[in-house]
Amino acid sequence: MEEIEVLVADETHEKYVDIILDTISEAAKVRGTGIARRTHEYLVTKIREAKAVIALCGDEFAGFSYIETWGNKQYVTTSGLIVHPKYRGRHLAKRIKDMTFSLARTRWPKAKIFSLTSGAAVMQMNTQLGYKPVTFAELTDDEAFWKGCEGCVNVDILRRTGRKYCICTGMLFDPEEHLPAKIPESVLERIRLLEAPPWPPPGGEGGAGLHSEDERRTLFPVSDGRPRTIWTFEGVCSREQEQTYRRRKDIVEIP
Ligand SMILES: CC(C)(COP(=O)(O)OP(=O)(O)OC[C@H]1O[C@@H](n2cnc3c(N)ncnc32)[C@H](O)[C@@H]1OP(=O)(O)O)[C@@H](O)C(=O)NCCC(=O)NCCS
Repeated sequence: MEEIEVLVADETHEKYVDIILDTISEAAKVRGTGIARRTHEYLVTKIREAKAVIALCGDEFAGFSYIETWGNKQYVTTSGLIVHPKYRGRHLAKRIKDMTFSLARTRWPKAKIFSLTSGAAVMQMNTQLGYKPVTFAELTDDEAFWKGCEGCVNVDILRRTGRKYCICTGMLFDPEEHLPAKIPESVLERIRLLEAPPWPPPGGEGGAGLHSEDERRTLFPVSDGRPRTIWTFEGVCSREQEQTYRRRKDIVEIP
């Protein structure tokens, strides 16, 4: 039997998008449940963003799945898992799931990975990877995610329960829970301060150019003992860096 390859999809695999979509919609008919419907363009984008995994047997399509991020990348789902009927029962879904899971963990190591499923196979694989069943309240509140449920035949249940319960089981992989010990927030803050880039921030001081008198914030970097006025942080460094500089007291604000 020819070997099945599981790989992160790239532009050369865009030609498979039609068969992927057909296989997904056939499977949805058989299962009698709805699915988060995705367009051709949506899957192409996933492939181009290196967020999709494809399984091929030679040139033949065998399976697919992709990653989605929610709530400002605080949550990730591995979605749209499909194995062509011809290739089922050979642990191919497991190989695809392992690959999407590793891809998600590598790209967003701090994100929580969750799953909302009624599929026994998916629940089994999730459990093996360390997902735990949770209430819906622990999943993302990103409206874009829940919009995906609109295509499901059971959406009335979800609406009726105010999004608290439905036929699907919510499962969550929390990366924090998979660390052997929890690092206290005070230590994490200390690490953030140690790792913050040195003053001056990238782009230099006042690199954003002059702003109007009203917008101008007078800030003094004091790390070298010679206060200088800078006009604004906007465009000079990120908001997060600005907060770090403030916490580290590189900067004092003049009333
Ligand atoms: C669900 C699906 C992806 C499984 O693909 P597959 O390649 O046959 O699955 P695998 O052989 O990798 O099986 C993975 C695990 O799930 C279990 N499993 C597979 N199909 C199952 C089923 N119908 N019911 C219960 N468990 C099942 C397997 O026993 C295996 O567990 P194990 O590691 O403990 O042995 C495939 O049947 C499919 O594409 N179905 C239609 C789409 C779908 O339902 N997608 C899931 C969306 S929630």
